[in-house]
Amino acid sequence: MNLPSEKPCTHRVVEVGGEHPYRIHIGPGLLGDGALLVQTLRGKHALLVSDSHVAPLYAAQVRDALLAAKPGLKIGGFVLPAGEQSKTLEHFGQTIDALAALGATRDACVFALGGGVVGDLAGFAAACWMRGIDCVQLPTTLLSMVDSSVGGKTAVDIPQGKNLVGAFHPPRAVIADTDVLHSLPIRELRAGLAEVIKYGGIRDPLFFEWLRAEREALLNFDAAALAQAIARSCEHKAEITERDPLEKGERALLNLGHTFGHAIEAEQGYSGAGNDALNHGEAVAVGMVQAAKLAAQLGMASRDDAENYAALLRDFGLPTEIPAGLRAEALLARMRLDKKNLAGHLRLILWRGIGKAEMVADVDEADVLAVLKTN
Ligand code: GLY
Repeated sequence: MNLPSEKPCTHRVVEVGGEHPYRIHIGPGLLGDGALLVQTLRGKHALLVSDSHVAPLYAAQVRDALLAAKPGLKIGGFVLPAGEQSKTLEHFGQTIDALAALGATRDACVFALGGGVVGDLAGFAAACWMRGIDCVQLPTTLLSMVDSSVGGKTAVDIPQGKNLVGAFHPPRAVIADTDVLHSLPIRELRAGLAEVIKYGGIRDPLFFEWLRAEREALLNFDAAALAQAIARSCEHKAEITERDPLEKGERALLNLGHTFGHAIEAEQGYSGAGNDALNHGEAVAVGMVQAAKLAAQLGMASRDDAENYAALLRDFGLPTEIPAGLRAEALLARMRLDKKNLAGHLRLILWRGIGKAEMVADVDEADVLAVLKTN
């Protein structure tokens, strides 16, 4: 019970167990909390990796907090141009160069300050430098707080496809400062909420109903509602990734909507490249609805569930239909390249209703095409 003079406790911690346990901290003001930032530091070298949008906003704050808590810490910096186009082997090489210039030893730590691009690339550099050093994820978008910063997937893109070169490298800690969400454009907030809604679709119908009830608060950047949504999402991701860190089974469920979504992103040429393509969260929203429709078509789930799910996504201002101009056959061709497929057969995450996702092997391409053509 809070005494009248006590501040309510706003710093939440989600524990991730398994072979490489770590904590996810969620709360306001954490980027300035030096004691927390240095808690997991083992050595005296730190590389702060960020991008050209985020670094001017928060890098100095993090650097000052680190130095105040650990005077004598040698801190290097590396700033990527903002955007998915930066997630390349070239920038990976430059991050490695920055670690070398710093003289980073095996007990050094990479701090990844930014969204998914920064987290994936900096995490991959940490995975490779001296065969693996610590990485602390400091996610600054809702999407990276609820998904990419947790679970240890790191990667860069190559011209042949997204995330094709990478490693599983669990972070040493994830520190999500909810204050940064206020500066997020509403479109980015919505994109993150698509990944939040995904957890309801995969395994939590009560959370799905809670999201419906809290829609207005969430879209109005209400701090308490957002912290609750992030914590619940992280609890789900923590439970799944600690049981299946290397995606040998259950973790694949986290890809609900992603096979369709990645195909849309690839066909549109990825947002941020100067076009008006759907961003990742938006493409996943459309993809989840296609998966729900396909499940209904295969007789696994009701059409009402698909419609109910699409209605919530629409209420959050998210798209639910394949963008005009994308051909069903071209999307199917992209889906054939998905990493989940085995021996040339489509494997998709579908569901038996809201909260009951499952992997379905050997999905008939004709059924997929039929769904894609109903948009
Ligand atoms: N984003 C899905 C996963 O981390 O497995």
